[in-house]
Amino acid sequence: MCGIVGYAGRRGAQPILLECLKRLEYRGYDSAGVAIVGQGLQLFKSKGEIAVLESMMPQMAGTAGIAHTRWATQGKPTTENAHPLADCSNGLAVVHNGIISNFMQLREGLLKDGHKFSSDTDTEVFAHLVEAELQGDLSSAVAKALKKVEGTYAFAVVSGDREEIVAARMESPLVVGLGDGENFLASDVTALLKYTNRMVYLQDGEVASITKDSLKIIDANGQAVQREPQKITWSLEDAEKGGYPHFMLKEIFEQPDAIHDSLLGRIESLEPEPFFQGNNFSSVKIVACGTSYHAGMVGKYIIEELSRIPTTVQISSEYRYSPISRESPLVVLVTQSGETADTLGASREARKRGNKTVGIANVVGSAITREVDHTIFTRAGPEIGVAATKTFVTQLVALYLLAMELGTQNRSMTAQARRAMVTNLRNLPRAVQDVLNQAPLIEALANKYASARDMYFIGRGINYPVALEGALKTKEISYIHGEGFPAGELKHGPLALISTESPVVAVAVRDHTYEKMLGNISEVSARGSPVIAIGFEGDSELPKYVDEAIWIREIPPIFSPVPTIVVLQLWAYYLAKARGCPIDKPRNIAKTVTVE
Ligand code: AGP
Repeated sequence: MCGIVGYAGRRGAQPILLECLKRLEYRGYDSAGVAIVGQGLQLFKSKGEIAVLESMMPQMAGTAGIAHTRWATQGKPTTENAHPLADCSNGLAVVHNGIISNFMQLREGLLKDGHKFSSDTDTEVFAHLVEAELQGDLSSAVAKALKKVEGTYAFAVVSGDREEIVAARMESPLVVGLGDGENFLASDVTALLKYTNRMVYLQDGEVASITKDSLKIIDANGQAVQREPQKITWSLEDAEKGGYPHFMLKEIFEQPDAIHDSLLGRIESLEPEPFFQGNNFSSVKIVACGTSYHAGMVGKYIIEELSRIPTTVQISSEYRYSPISRESPLVVLVTQSGETADTLGASREARKRGNKTVGIANVVGSAITREVDHTIFTRAGPEIGVAATKTFVTQLVALYLLAMELGTQNRSMTAQARRAMVTNLRNLPRAVQDVLNQAPLIEALANKYASARDMYFIGRGINYPVALEGALKTKEISYIHGEGFPAGELKHGPLALISTESPVVAVAVRDHTYEKMLGNISEVSARGSPVIAIGFEGDSELPKYVDEAIWIREIPPIFSPVPTIVVLQLWAYYLAKARGCPIDKPRNIAKTVTVE
């Protein structure tokens, strides 16, 4: 997720663009840049936060321009890869939020046509596509170039010979702010509320031409669109959270898009990634901390089911000081920040032991990506809440993709099985949206149990790690003592803790462990514990065993951790809300643990 702003008006563009851009820094902050139409096109960009750009950039005269703050998804966070990106003549510049999934073939075609590239980004391809189509009208050149692009985008384009911004939107947000003798463009209203509260939201497929005193929108069929401005009454803080009360809730609700973006351009091709070609790993070891460790535990079940490769999972701080094993597994390091000290230490230890290493990270250019042999990036966008939510779910997506690579490589996965996986992966955003639609019900249920001091989470098989993750979310943001167990372990000690005061949350989807789960639920309810279960819609048996149930649409068991964890994220969030906890910044913990 990146931040885009634009200005066309009667005032100097540079200070206004910077002021607007700073409001979007929560959308991405690894590099930033500005392009201003003055004496021709003036462009300046730099690696690092917006403050770095502001300290380094020269005065640039001009009353129209665009600016961008980046969260890298394609191309490392360097100055060369920072937006805006220009065409060959440096006559026009583009900023982009989204992913051009067919950028490689477009790039090859443009190189053949003699275009010269200055970056590794997908975005630069669009600058050259517009250049190739430009014959006078900028909007029509952009509209023609868009016909070649696949993927998601919010584009803003300027050309040095006109005080006009052309914007286009497909699945990445763009809003036009209407001023007096000036108009604005941004990824979201947060950036513009200082200057105007009159907003016109662009819709998918539309192209807009913005000048200081005009806004012209055409739709995907080239028809002119008239749209009344909306008046925004949000405060600035509310706007930064997209109207949600907390970043954590916003990020929980961003998960359908995060899954979609993490899959984009990665499930169409049946060709394995070069890294995996010729590598037949006899075992896999996944190493991580916290929530990422729980994702790794789910990954074990996924990899063993899809590739038959024995897989173990270890906490980073344990792995790095454990005795050296004789096996030489593929070591997978899961870390959303890419900066967790223990996981970085584990990656170095793994390489020292001669293992091949793969990283699963959410931050392009983070330390882990420089340590491993290959990185699978999640595309969750920045996660501001300390509690990991959308990064967990996109880590699972990365693990499905990894397991499919391994299973294809060692022929454990047939082409038919792979196609079935692709269909189910494509359905995940909707499965998550179905859970999000139940948020009010989950909140009402959480309110009933928010006064508990202790709360236990049980699951079996692939949903045992989900129980652990639900417990971690609950404990870290509601401060209720949440603890997760494999359901089969209750009789080996934890039952001693069970009482009428300790609600038990049971992940009881109808998979091969379901009957055993019913037995475990009976064990705890017989001792008076209220039981809240997560089950598949249409299950008429489960209600006979539990006090409350939250239903999810039936899904192949290997995918069930995705909707079930979203239930537990909401459960934890609403417990914390009922208890008046800070939620986004829980006590005693930080978003990234860069010390041992
Ligand atoms: C999860 O909600 C916590 N914020 C924490 O456990 C986190 O998952 C852990 O510190 C690992 O972080 P990483 O994914 O950035 O390595």
